[in-house]
Amino acid sequence: MAQQQLAELRHARTGIELRPGLDGVPATQSAICDIDGEQGLLTYRGYPVSELAANSSFLETAYLLIWGELPTRDQLTAFEQEVQMHRRMSFRVRDMMKCFPATGHPMDALQSSAASLGLFYSRRAIDDPQYIYDAVVRLIAKIPTMVAAFQLIRKGQDPIQPRDDLAYSANFLYMLTEREPDPLAARIFDRCLILHAEHSLNASTFSARVTASTLTDPYAVVASAVGTLAGPLHGGANEDVLTMLEQIGSSENAEAYLDEAMTEKRKIMGFGHREYRVKDPRAVILQSLAEEMFARFGHDHLYDVARGLELAAESRLGAKGIFPNVDFYSGLVYRKLGIPRDLFTPVFAISRVAGWLAHWREQLGANRIFRPSQIYSGSGPRAWTPIHERSPASAA
Ligand code: ACO
Repeated sequence: MAQQQLAELRHARTGIELRPGLDGVPATQSAICDIDGEQGLLTYRGYPVSELAANSSFLETAYLLIWGELPTRDQLTAFEQEVQMHRRMSFRVRDMMKCFPATGHPMDALQSSAASLGLFYSRRAIDDPQYIYDAVVRLIAKIPTMVAAFQLIRKGQDPIQPRDDLAYSANFLYMLTEREPDPLAARIFDRCLILHAEHSLNASTFSARVTASTLTDPYAVVASAVGTLAGPLHGGANEDVLTMLEQIGSSENAEAYLDEAMTEKRKIMGFGHREYRVKDPRAVILQSLAEEMFARFGHDHLYDVARGLELAAESRLGAKGIFPNVDFYSGLVYRKLGIPRDLFTPVFAISRVAGWLAHWREQLGANRIFRPSQIYSGSGPRAWTPIHERSPASAA
């Protein structure tokens, strides 16, 4: 049914209008993140994301998101040490991952591995602050280890152990690439994690909150959010952006590519956002991080293609409020860091777990199970048809 017709439907009992995709419908109250989509402003707990990306670390930002205030030095040190202590994963999880098909997508591997933590930490004491703290620490600590482990396992290697002398982001890059990263590369990666850590009630966070509202365990909450993030309309777009840039090949081809895509009503990956009518503020910072990477580690011709596409899109899509989103430049940074393309979305999950956990805590604080209604469009009541009287047409 066309969107226009859907939009005019109202619920028979409440009279509430159907809003496909819940566009503009508030589904919760939250104090975690605010977006001004007209001005292009994004704040976490009141702090502009640009300031956090410039001054904070990912773990400090995660602490802020989850507990609501910037940590003191002692609180941050304790949190960093706890996360460092829980980076290793059980040999059972590793052996389970060895049974995953090497050709499977790393997001599927991550979703399964994250869910499996619920088997290992099966006590579900969601009203115990210590349980909540431990679950937060475990998930933030172990998800990067799982992402890096699957990368080595699928190449037929054993995962390598985390290194206690390396900070969070440097350690992830080390576990992934088996090389200690350049400090600038590690810092840029950490800033990318800050930028992806939270974004209000996006699809995966909504998924997390719906799952949380049933009072299930936090591992199921995160696993359901990982599954939602994987789709190409959400976190999965960062992979597709690079594929698209390669297809375009050169900035001179950008206008023709756009015209053809628009004629065929194909979406331009990495463009458009439900909340923003201007360029996503995270895309602005990621673009400058990409430039910093290229200045230090060498240029990437796909960046020129991306710039060409952005310029060509201004006149064609700008009037509709469609501009680059967070996924447009992130892949270029990750590619320069040596991260394989199908790990871009798992890397997004490493960061977004902070936001999901903040929403999990908030949901538990004022919980009511999510149970929206629907507008039924199926058949009216019908009499049972015995199987010998059914025809293929009636089954169809
Ligand atoms: N390219 C071309 N046109 C677009 C794009 C795009 N990327 N995005 C939206 N539009 C157009 C649509 O064709 C539609 O036009 P119409 O009204 O003339 O039919 C209009 O803008 C509204 O589009 P919707 O898809 O209804 O917007 P919605 O808010 O539902 O979708 C979304 C937002 C999913 C992000 C969309 O912009 C999109 O598919 N973008 C490409 C995929 C992408 O980059 N996803 C990552 C988003 S960021 C994130 O999730 C981390």
